[in-house]
Amino acid sequence: MPAKESRPKAAEESAIVIDFGSQYSWLIARRVRECGVYSEVVAHTTPWKKVARLNPKCFILSGGPAGVYETDAPMVPTYVFESGLPVLGICYGMQALTHQLGGQVAPSDKREYGLAMLYKNETDIPLFDNMEDTIPVWMSHGDRIIELPPGFHSIAYTENAPIAAIANDQNIIGIQFHPEVVHTPQGKEILSNFLFKVCDFQGTWTSKNFVKQQIERIKRKVGKGKVICALSGGVDSTVVATLLHKAIGDQLTAIYVNNGLMRREEIERTIRTFKKNLKLNGIYVDATDRFLDRLEGVTDPEKKRHIIGNEFISVFEEEANKIGKVDFLAQGTLYPDVIESTATVSRASSTIKTHHNVGGLPDVMNLKLIEPLRYLFKDEVREVGTALGLPEEMVWRQPFPGPGLAIRIIGEVTRERLEMLRAADWIVMNEVKKANLYRQLWQSFAVLTPLKSVGVMGDYRTYRYTVAIRAVTSEDAMTADWARLPYDLLATISNRIVNEVEGVNRVVYDISSKPPATIEWE
Ligand code: XMP
Repeated sequence: MPAKESRPKAAEESAIVIDFGSQYSWLIARRVRECGVYSEVVAHTTPWKKVARLNPKCFILSGGPAGVYETDAPMVPTYVFESGLPVLGICYGMQALTHQLGGQVAPSDKREYGLAMLYKNETDIPLFDNMEDTIPVWMSHGDRIIELPPGFHSIAYTENAPIAAIANDQNIIGIQFHPEVVHTPQGKEILSNFLFKVCDFQGTWTSKNFVKQQIERIKRKVGKGKVICALSGGVDSTVVATLLHKAIGDQLTAIYVNNGLMRREEIERTIRTFKKNLKLNGIYVDATDRFLDRLEGVTDPEKKRHIIGNEFISVFEEEANKIGKVDFLAQGTLYPDVIESTATVSRASSTIKTHHNVGGLPDVMNLKLIEPLRYLFKDEVREVGTALGLPEEMVWRQPFPGPGLAIRIIGEVTRERLEMLRAADWIVMNEVKKANLYRQLWQSFAVLTPLKSVGVMGDYRTYRYTVAIRAVTSEDAMTADWARLPYDLLATISNRIVNEVEGVNRVVYDISSKPPATIEWE
């Protein structure tokens, strides 16, 4: 096993989200960070020793699926109340604190779900500072508070929840609604009021500060050691390489493996960006033949992933061995991957596919890990990329899966099919960019299906492949909605594909959301 990266030194100040298994816990942390305050999600079972290193200035208790009166219902750790720091309990979080501090929670005969109007009981409430007396909020709860804990008073109500927000004099606040979701229009202001008007945050969490701190940290950690990293052409690995290069210069070697499964012009563009922006120590390996030979005759998606992952490790190791002694491996792990693996309630989507670009690499190479993006969300990585001066084209590139086009060709991957898909994908990308929609979409791409159907071209009947277009909006790829692309754009894409891509006579648009579908077809 590789040596684990030690946790970064304590944050300057942070808002700790205590997770009770809500699907929105990470969203709370994200919204808090958008306010300029560093936030991390921890399980409700995390001991104080670990939490203390983050210099908490407040606690935010998440929602969750349990009822506080159930046996084994998760409870607020006692250090939260003992710390004397401000607390904001959201939904289940409010019920849990009520229950533990001597109030009473009971199931309600009416479940409140959706938009509700919140009415303030008082005029001078810091949490609702600068807001009207009536605030639209998003509710999702069955239980409700029937008796307040001693020392608390009710500060707001809705039609179905007579006690919808509570507070005491020690800055322990509870709200029944969800300020973290976009359906609560002033949710971010409510969180911001909590952070700056109830708690005493400085708001120092910015991408510029992050870059400065990370460069220092990397320098300290690496010393005179040598580091390698893999480049994929995506924003995460590019930002990692750039940060490291800024910190340690030539002590870093970046290895870029062409697996033959990239999109058209991808390789050239990435190399160009690196040459222009960074005088990086880089190794480029064209391993197309190795990958495609191993994929011959393989149709099972997981087998494809496995082969590509293993082959990547072999090529990478071979190249790394040529460099001589190396001490560290830098990786672009992001915070959602970390939350996934530490979440109180495991989220189903994480187990469906094996989603790792460089899966297994750390396990087989006996290197210490450097993961400078480990505590960032994707949009924060983009901000850091911008702060590092990376070109917009690179910073805003849509995510692209590690196994590349192999999982967008349903069935066997052949050179001929790859060319067909590359041509169709190129058209989709360019037309979406031309329509100014590229940035708004989480991903947009073409899939080559194995389905052949009859068509007519001129006086001839044809029997050719069907290409599917996939375009989705999403915040984090855990859930996604199919994008309502304009018909004109779809018409242009379809026309161009059937006219320009040899072997394709039909184009369909995928109108499934995730769940129940997934973003990729394999
Ligand atoms: P799904 O298809 O599960 O995809 O909805 C969610 C996100 O993950 C990407 N994806 C992968 N990324 N290796 C990767 O590095 C993979 O094997 C893989 N499979 C899917 C997908 O593009 C989407 O962004």
